[in-house]
Amino acid sequence: MKKVVSLVLALMLVFSLAACNGKDKAKKDDGKITVGVVQTNANESDWRTANTKSMNEAFAEAGFETKMVFGEGDHAKQIAQAQQLIQEEVDYLVILGLQSAGWEDVAKAAKDAGIPLIMADRKLDLTEDLYTAMVCSDFEAEGVKAVDWLKTQDMDEVNIVVLGGDTGSSAQLGRSKAIEDGAAANGWNIVFNQNMKGWDETLAKQAVADLIASGKEFNVIYAENDNMARGACDAMDAAGITYGKTGDVKVIAFDANKWALEKVLAGEFNLDIECNPLHGPRLVSLIQSLEKGEKIEKNVYVEEEMFDAETITQAIVDARSY
Ligand code: AHR
Repeated sequence: MKKVVSLVLALMLVFSLAACNGKDKAKKDDGKITVGVVQTNANESDWRTANTKSMNEAFAEAGFETKMVFGEGDHAKQIAQAQQLIQEEVDYLVILGLQSAGWEDVAKAAKDAGIPLIMADRKLDLTEDLYTAMVCSDFEAEGVKAVDWLKTQDMDEVNIVVLGGDTGSSAQLGRSKAIEDGAAANGWNIVFNQNMKGWDETLAKQAVADLIASGKEFNVIYAENDNMARGACDAMDAAGITYGKTGDVKVIAFDANKWALEKVLAGEFNLDIECNPLHGPRLVSLIQSLEKGEKIEKNVYVEEEMFDAETITQAIVDARSY
């Protein structure tokens, strides 16, 4: 009888130990690392599509289980989604924030749950003790590249239309700060400065069409992504306004999607500043290092190029992977 009691007690101990560390148990059970990804919007832009694809493909190849959710323009929804993933005890939490502010509670909850939080694409307003790593773009630096290029264009008067991205995203904040500071420093005029909800191409086209109809003069389009630059060009086409390499209006875009670089090559866009979406492999490498207990570089800004209609080649365009 004593032996039976001892066996039952031993089994109870084993199961209770296993249950108290559910996360590790979950990982050990199927051996898979589960990565929770809080993405912005499924169809936000061609850039976002490439970004989502990069993560899904890289995570699958690495044998990770991916739990990706989409905020669809709603910051509060993203916060709730992140908290839910923490409750589900994902092994890693990757956040691409619609807004850069308002993530402290999520970060603290992840820390308390022992879940490493990784910022991808867009830096969030978090102190270094509240996140494990950052793999982001330096959006202000991207904008400064555009400002430095515009300074070389030797224009008598510079009247700029700014088509901003989602208000409050670090991408919009950084790129808008760069052009606003650049205009102030160089005596340029910003004649229109509005952020388009969801980085929307149609909204950008309508905004530029309305501006043209109002008679406002401009000679630079500063569009904070390729899709909105294309919308602006469609509006100028409809009004018979010339643009690009030989036109009256210079077009500056961000992202450098392959289709957009074809427009740079064709002289329709004057300049396209790369914002690299291929975070999948970077995140896999980071997570694998963390799994091995290796020291990692906490803050990494991805390397990004700039493409000028005066120098781009077909070979450059052909070599682009997204
Ligand atoms: O965070 C990167 C930005 O988000 C890209 O420039 C834009 O196209 C995307 O939607």
